[in-house]
Parts: sequence; C-alpha cells; structure tokens
Amino acid sequence: MIPSKGHCVLRGTNEKLQCKKCLTPETVNPNYRGLEYSLSGPVLQKAIEIEKEILEGHKKKFKNVILLNIGDAQSLGQPPLTFPRQVLSLVAYPDLLRDKTFPEDVKLRARDILENCPGGSAGSYSYLCGMDIIRKKIATYIEKRDNVASNWENIIIGQGVADMAKLFMSLLKSNKYGLAAGILNPVPECPFYSSIIAELGLKRIDYFIDEDNQWNININELQRAIDEAKSRCNPRAIIVINPGNPTCHILTKSNMEEIVKFAFKENLIIIADEVYQNDVLKDDCDFISFKRILNDMGKPYSDIELVSLMSVSKGVFAESGIKSGYAEFVNLDPEIPPMFVNLASASYNPSALAQSTLYSLVNPPKPNEPSYELFKHEKNVIIGGLKMSASIAEESIHSLEGMSCNPLEGGTFFYPRLMLPQVAIERADRMKLSPDEFYAMELLQETGICVAPGSAFKQKPGTYHIRMTLPSDPEMAHEIMERFKEFHFQFMKSFS
Ligand SMILES: Cc1ncc(COP(=O)(O)O)c(C=O)c1O
Repeated sequence: MIPSKGHCVLRGTNEKLQCKKCLTPETVNPNYRGLEYSLSGPVLQKAIEIEKEILEGHKKKFKNVILLNIGDAQSLGQPPLTFPRQVLSLVAYPDLLRDKTFPEDVKLRARDILENCPGGSAGSYSYLCGMDIIRKKIATYIEKRDNVASNWENIIIGQGVADMAKLFMSLLKSNKYGLAAGILNPVPECPFYSSIIAELGLKRIDYFIDEDNQWNININELQRAIDEAKSRCNPRAIIVINPGNPTCHILTKSNMEEIVKFAFKENLIIIADEVYQNDVLKDDCDFISFKRILNDMGKPYSDIELVSLMSVSKGVFAESGIKSGYAEFVNLDPEIPPMFVNLASASYNPSALAQSTLYSLVNPPKPNEPSYELFKHEKNVIIGGLKMSASIAEESIHSLEGMSCNPLEGGTFFYPRLMLPQVAIERADRMKLSPDEFYAMELLQETGICVAPGSAFKQKPGTYHIRMTLPSDPEMAHEIMERFKEFHFQFMKSFS
C-alpha cells in the first residue's frame, strides 16, 4: 500500500483513491475513550431484544417488557397534566387562542409567552438564558419555596438540567496549580454526572453515601475522599442530589448543615441537584433547599457559592421529552453568570415550547383561576399514586428474604439491596456479569420487568442493588411487585 496522501490512500498499481477516516478510536478526543453510559448495559440490550421478539410473535412467559430501568414516568403511562399541555398547544398554534374550549388562564400564560418570543412566534430563537418573564416567575417560585430573596437575573433557563450541569462544570475546568479540577460525586451516582466529568476531562472524586444511615452523607467519608484526591486534582465542587436518585432519600437538615460546613472548609461550590423537590413521598419528611439552609446558617456560610438545578422532567410534570430546566446561581462572582450566558449562546437557545412547560411549573393555576381545580386534582392523583406505590414497594421488599430497603422519602425510584446467595454470585461471575446484573437479567427473562442493576450507579464493594422506577399508578405497582416477589422467591430457592 502506498502511504497516505492527505485524506486519500493510493492502493496498488491501479492507484484507486480511497478515503481515509479522519476520526477513529485512536484520534478521537481521549476523554471519550472508554466512556460508557452505564444504564445502557447488557440488561437493557436484552430488554430491547426481547421486545423485538415479542413484536415478531415469539412466545414469552409475559405479555410485554416493563421498562423500570429509567425514570421516564410518561413511558409507564403517567398522563401529562392538562394545564401545561394546553399552554404548550396554544404557544405552538396561536390560532387556538380563539378557541372557546381553552380556559382563560391557559390563554393568559400562552399570550405572556408569545409576547416574549421575538416576532411573537415560538419558532423564533429564544433569548439566550431564557425569557425574562419566566426567569422572574422562577424567582417568585423560589422565594415562595424558601422565604429567601431570589434575583431573577441569576437564573438561567436551559434545555434540561443535564445540559446546564455540563455547561456549568465546563467553567470549572482549569489547571490551577497544575492540577485538573476535581468534582465530588455521590455514589451510588446519577450516571450522567460521571459522564459529564469524564467528557470534560475533569477528575471525579467519588464519595459513598451512607446506606446504613438513610443515605445521608457522612462527613468523615467526604474528608477521606477529598484527602485522597488532593494529590491528583484540585477539588472545586461537590455534587449533592437531594432528594436522591437512585436512593430516594431526603437529607436531614443537620446533615445538610454539615455538608455546607465541609464545603466552606474545603472552599467548594455546591452543585445541588434538586429536581425531585416536589416529589416528597412521606408525610413526615420535608424538602429543604440548599439555598434556604445557607441562608438560615448565616455568615460566613450564607456566602457559599451554590448552583441549584431544577427540571420539568420529573415528578408530576414528568415532561422529560420536552426538556427544560433552570439553574439558580447563588453567591457566584458577578462576572461568572454572564460568562455562562456567553458559553450557552455559542451552542443553544432554549426552546420556547419547552420553556412554556417550565412557565407552567413555576406559575401554575391559582385558586381563583378556571384551571385550578383540575390541575390540583391531576397533581394529587399523581403524587398520591406515587406515595401509594412507594408503600406497596416498601412492604413488598420487607416481606422478602435476602432483600432490604431504606424508607422511600422522596423522588421516583426505589433502590433495594440484595443479599445474594454465593452460588448466584459465582454463576454471575462465570457469565461475566456483575451479581446484580445477573439478577436483573434473570428477572427480565422470567417476568419482563427491566430494572437497572446497582453496578450501573457504582456501589460499595460487596453490596448489590437494583433500581426500579416507581410507577405513579398504584395498581401497576401492585401488579409489578406481585410478579417481582414470585420471581425473587424462586430465585433465592434455586440458588440457595
Ligand atoms: C437527579 C437528576 N437530575 C437531573 C436529571 C435530568 O434532568 P433533565 O431531563 O432536565 O436533563 C435526572 C434524570 O433522570 C436526574 O435523575
């Protein structure tokens, strides 16, 4: 073969021109090499294969595959709320503003949005950090939630939380003192954060959250993690997910205060992922935002840098296909938010349609408005259903040998621990699967229930878990748990 000339390779005497690949695994951005999205491992691949077989008419022990491996409530039949969908419809198709079947409060929101779209159309590019009218309503929503002032100019709207977390973390990338920036990452983790950290070439500093203490954060463990990391990176921020994914816990107030003191001592920015803030599942639990905690602790803690993230993808809205979310920047150097806006404007403008859903989340119907009763009813059915599903799941898990689960306090998952028989662990090893992957694979093949193995979220060595999404329909939860209990009983029997 004749060596390459630019993009082409000349082969043999006929001198046929062939195109040479410019982008290969050898030349790709090294941060992407070996990068995997752990939730799309062998269990999901098998689920897709089984779904295809069912469509082709193959006989199975079950009618269909139930995808409980990701938090996608509408894919499990959770109906979208009427109010945000109506607002979205009018924004997309303003002729409907003349339609008498749409309530006036819906029309009011839709007009607000259209008036704030350049040219009065949702098809125009939106303003870089979102519409001011929505940013102002977000500030009001936060003030009502926390009883603490919120400056709308420090609120930025984006195409979902994952995108915004990535943009923000890209600002942290600097080789101060010759070391890469490090980010403290909770384990069990939310996998997209470690993907972002890897993709940006930042250093991940894993810290284990404490299963034996209702998944609170042990400060000694934080100290261990950061001390071990300091020789290889410069720790800049800590990610805290509250309420937790995959763990469904809500941090206690005193634990949050300890975390704040730790962040102060180590000069860390707190990245608070608070997307499940409206999904409290126990009557004796409250969600408290990190912003509120900072404020209540007073100086010097009230000056700590904080980024708080919220999304329409979760909970009663569950509009993960219409991604929109916001970041509130608290105590950042005033030159930083404009840099973030510059960075964002180079790559995207948040969609006006998606922003309309965020507008409905922070500006829902009020008691004197025509949509109020229906909105309240739909919301109560969903949150009430989630709470019932959570107790069905808890009761089922507690009735099973070889399984335990912390109380489900907030969020939309449950994450039971598996105490697997040694024979099952050895079988998994022979099949080159992690023990919980093996369990999840068997569960899928026997029942059609697809869950995410705990190894996808990393876990303390020697512990095994699975994560299941809580359906908001309690009947569905009941049916799933009955199938699950039967499977678990048989599994334990055959491997004991
Ligand atoms: C804790 C947490 N934060 C953020 C997201 C993603 O939010 P968005 O859809 O707005 O990117 C998820 C999605 O599952 C999540 O679990």
